[in-house]
Amino acid sequence: MSEFNSCPAHDKSAEPKESRAGLSRRNFFTSLAVAAGSIGLTSIASSAEAASKKYKICATKDIKVGGGSSFRIPGRNMMVLITQPKVGVFRAFDQRCTHEGFAVNKIEGKNLICQAHGALFDMNTGAVKRGPARKALPTYTVSVEKKLVYVTIKS
Ligand code: FES
Repeated sequence: MSEFNSCPAHDKSAEPKESRAGLSRRNFFTSLAVAAGSIGLTSIASSAEAASKKYKICATKDIKVGGGSSFRIPGRNMMVLITQPKVGVFRAFDQRCTHEGFAVNKIEGKNLICQAHGALFDMNTGAVKRGPARKALPTYTVSVEKKLVYVTIKS
């Protein structure tokens, strides 16, 4: 019967058993935590993507600098107000006034106006400049690709 000499660096029996078991358990749980974290983040990211949808709204040339227009969101019973407060800067707002839900339907200077009761909103931020509305207009994410304006809306 012959015995092989093993290299001490690769000879696991040279390590104390308790230490080996502790390390591998720790490594196992660390790996498990990292994997669980990755899965959690991935699933959060994919549910956020699944919960949002991007809609093609109009061409950039349809919105004058310092102006805006409202559009029906394709396939949804919603209106979006697109403005261009500065050259190449586009904003999108829910067209419903935050006072009582009438349509914000007029632009005067840099203001969006709800003619129902006279509320005034900033065309760049949607912030209230004059009541009776107290809350800013809800905003949507706008992107421009190949001279087309897109809006991303959460489902
Ligand atoms: S609904 Fe717009 S000001 Fe009242």
